[in-house]
Amino acid sequence: MSYLARTLTFVLFSIFLLAGCSNNESAPAEASAEEETQQPILIQGPMPIEAENFAERLENVEEEQSGTFVFYKGTVDDYPVIVMKTGKGMENTAAATALAIEKFTPAAIINQGTSGGHDPELNVFDIVLGERTVNLGSLKTGSREEGEGIAPTEWIPMDLMASEGSAGEDPDAENIRYFEGDKGLLEAAKAVKETHKEGKVVEGTIGSADVWNNEVDRIQWFHENFGSSVEEMEGAAGAQIAKAYDTPYLGIRILSNNKTNGGEYNPETAASNQDYVYEVVKEYIQNK
Ligand code: 5AD
Repeated sequence: MSYLARTLTFVLFSIFLLAGCSNNESAPAEASAEEETQQPILIQGPMPIEAENFAERLENVEEEQSGTFVFYKGTVDDYPVIVMKTGKGMENTAAATALAIEKFTPAAIINQGTSGGHDPELNVFDIVLGERTVNLGSLKTGSREEGEGIAPTEWIPMDLMASEGSAGEDPDAENIRYFEGDKGLLEAAKAVKETHKEGKVVEGTIGSADVWNNEVDRIQWFHENFGSSVEEMEGAAGAQIAKAYDTPYLGIRILSNNKTNGGEYNPETAASNQDYVYEVVKEYIQNK
């Protein structure tokens, strides 16, 4: 082969290779456009009784585990829905939410389960839609010297997201941080309120901390100062992480107990909430 023929062959071969590469590059772009229309909806439940009922209603279910977190991946009305058993508490929920967002790029997250009433107008089996969620453990105590005792009613709210500086010193951090519930999810939830027959469904404020409050005066203090309708141990942790990733998020909590009006704990509320959330998901999918 002449020098010219060899050069020509090399050039043609290179063009062929480059064309092949650019074809390959376009393949993932098409796949991601497809995936985008099929981004799953995530349903979080802390305890087995708060997740497994919904998981049983999924079709085509595959189970996946990561650490202690369990994902039930399936469909509702042919749309991908993933139920996650997160475990109880703020830490589990924050970690599970970040992991799920990284793994599955969800279109939306619903954090649901049981709660304790802060509002005496709410009864066991009533449901609160989290128009906003707040961390009831983000507090700064007053300044007291040794022997001066403790005074929880003097504690003030602390906003850990106010700045990157010291939350203990920054006066701008002495505010309540509310996480807003997603409007689209809220609309879907409002549209199917009537399907919940065992109690009423209201919009309100969900308060969270790794604390179970049984002191009625303390519950009232939160109700008056933070506007909390109910308390639980997960919602605000998930909301904070969902906000960090700009992922739509809504808390939906049924009252399983209410110390302020003598409402005794009833674990059957967990299944009832999942039945309602199932209707919310179907409504949200239909409008998507
Ligand atoms: N206080 C705190 N958490 C509660 N839960 C139900 N009722 C309450 C309450 N009164 C939920 C929490 C947690 C588990 C203990 O039950 O979210 O997952």
